[in-house]
Amino acid sequence: MTFNTSVRYHDGQLFVDDVAAADMAQAVGTPVYVYSLKHVLAQYHALREAFAPLGAHIHYSAKANANLALLRALIGAGAGIDAVSGGEIYKALQAGADPRHVVFAGVGKTQAELRYALAQGVGWFNVENAAELDHIERIAAELGVRARAALRFNPDITANTHPNIATGHGGAKFGMPADAVRALLQARHRYAHVMLAGVHVHIGSQLGDTHATQAAVERALELIAPFEDVRTLNIGGGFPARYHAAQTELPSFQAFADALTPLLRGYEVLIEPGRSLVAEAGVLLTQVLYRKAQGGQHIVIVDASMTELLRPALYGARHEIVPVRASTAPVQLVQVVGPVCETTDTLGHDVPLSDDVREGDWLAVLTCGAYGMVMASNYNARPRPAEVVVSAAGDTWRVARPRETWEMLVAGEG
Ligand code: LLP
Repeated sequence: MTFNTSVRYHDGQLFVDDVAAADMAQAVGTPVYVYSLKHVLAQYHALREAFAPLGAHIHYSAKANANLALLRALIGAGAGIDAVSGGEIYKALQAGADPRHVVFAGVGKTQAELRYALAQGVGWFNVENAAELDHIERIAAELGVRARAALRFNPDITANTHPNIATGHGGAKFGMPADAVRALLQARHRYAHVMLAGVHVHIGSQLGDTHATQAAVERALELIAPFEDVRTLNIGGGFPARYHAAQTELPSFQAFADALTPLLRGYEVLIEPGRSLVAEAGVLLTQVLYRKAQGGQHIVIVDASMTELLRPALYGARHEIVPVRASTAPVQLVQVVGPVCETTDTLGHDVPLSDDVREGDWLAVLTCGAYGMVMASNYNARPRPAEVVVSAAGDTWRVARPRETWEMLVAGEG
């Protein structure tokens, strides 16, 4: 069985590219995240190709997965970075990003973060309100630099996605309504140290169709039409990943490009994809600790939990969970749960799992490359897991971040 071009069974064993998942779980222990760099790069190239007619600049959204090995691979392939904090800018620069190819976004940038970004020569600021623009103007003047900015426009469009990851409706905290954007664009020549060169619009993540994005882009173009020197549009991220085999109707990169290219010809276009580049490249390997039946349920207790992968507990997200060693035994519907003292610490509800899966066996939680490790926590004093990357050639692997230790849990405390 093949889940995607990198994650598949071979001779009854789960592989990530040419490496057996069991070998990595054995050597590094569990829980452990494994990422296929080959898959990440293939996604990046597919997106670049789809948007090539527009010459779109791709800024990888580091919030999805900020492991340095992954950042380095994408930067090496030509990607810029979309950062939402001083910490993400720092990581991007550590990974070798050219600051001019970093976009600084975020609803609540502190003045210290703005100063750091300006001093580093960050290429674009996605500005969320007028007061932030005043701060950038003042700090840029102090530093004797000129910033370049796009105003984040809230188009008042509700995306076809989970309500917790929609950002473009009028009541959302993100961006500014049309009137506010227009007023700032009209006043743009008052800012001697900020070049207001574009508009930014991002309506949500895991978008189920291209219509809402198309409508948002149309509204943004209408908004900037009177301002001839404002010809850059940052269309955000939001391209979906396939979380399970049944999701065949999801729009591809090409579908988005086909919908948007006719609108955007002649504009400078920026894109900020996160999930679509990295989600399917990642798996979380975990070991079965116990298996029990009670209250009419079959419960499989594993060593990974909501502290490694928060998405099921936070959004009710569904990730496929499969055994590392394939089995032909009859299948049972089970609840896959973690050791954390929370009822919502369930990684999978009604997971079809063969009934010969036993204590000590490994399972793989699929499509975990995005918003997995970055949302991990130390709740219940659980060290965060190791991260492993399989090389771009697909044949070798290495630990890209070791598992945290108990000593690290107490470092600096007390
Ligand atoms: N640009 C902006 C302004 C964003 O807010 C986001 C994501 C992106 C780009 C990247 O979006 P993507 O291509 O990954 O959809 N933790 C949630 C997702 C939160 C998304 C936040 N913003 C999850 O696990 O589903």
